Amino acid sequence: MADNPRKVTGLESNFTVEEFKQVVGSFVTGITVVTASSADGPVGFTCQSFTSLSLDPPTILISVAQTSRTFSTIASSKRFCVNILSTGSAHLAHDFAFMDPSIRFTTHSWTLGESGNPVLEAALAWLDCDLVNSIEVEDHLIAIGRVVGVGALDETREPLIYYRGDFGEFTRLA
Ligand SMILES: Cc1cc2nc3c(=O)[nH]c(=O)nc-3n(C[C@H](O)[C@H](O)[C@H](O)COP(=O)(O)O)c2cc1C
Repeated sequence: MADNPRKVTGLESNFTVEEFKQVVGSFVTGITVVTASSADGPVGFTCQSFTSLSLDPPTILISVAQTSRTFSTIASSKRFCVNILSTGSAHLAHDFAFMDPSIRFTTHSWTLGESGNPVLEAALAWLDCDLVNSIEVEDHLIAIGRVVGVGALDETREPLIYYRGDFGEFTRLA
């Protein structure tokens, strides 16, 4: 399945980290960029692991690596914005994962939303959240946000799709 022989740690498992990533990557998702405002300006990172959690009150969750620089801002500001990316923003998703954080927001257009969080121009829709809980799970954190505002920048836009490490577009069945 994969050439990398690195085994999953802490388990008596017969699969590697790469095999695990390949299998979970078979679940198709959209892609978001999670943003927040720090004293030094906007921060943000590409985040696949976003899902809605409850309806009343409305909450969502994201799974964040404990090493995330953006999350240290969110932990103190207690607010963040989930920008759901549109088709054509694969390069932006790449940049918010791999580019030096100090130039992510000078390379891509954004505005400041009502709640003070950055909203990316490439977003299909966005959710402003108050951080209500964060739970450490192994090398990640589950961050739970209470949704305090939502918006759709342009309803004609289509979503960016992510599947097995590749970006794609959504196609409706006839
Ligand atoms: C397609 C894609 C999806 C990603 N999803 C996540 C995710 O769900 N959670 C996470 O912590 N990092 C995720 N990353 C990695 C972060 O975007 C990357 O580590 C980023 O540099 C973190 O930035 P920060 O340290 O400035 O917060 C993803 C990267 C890519 C390319």
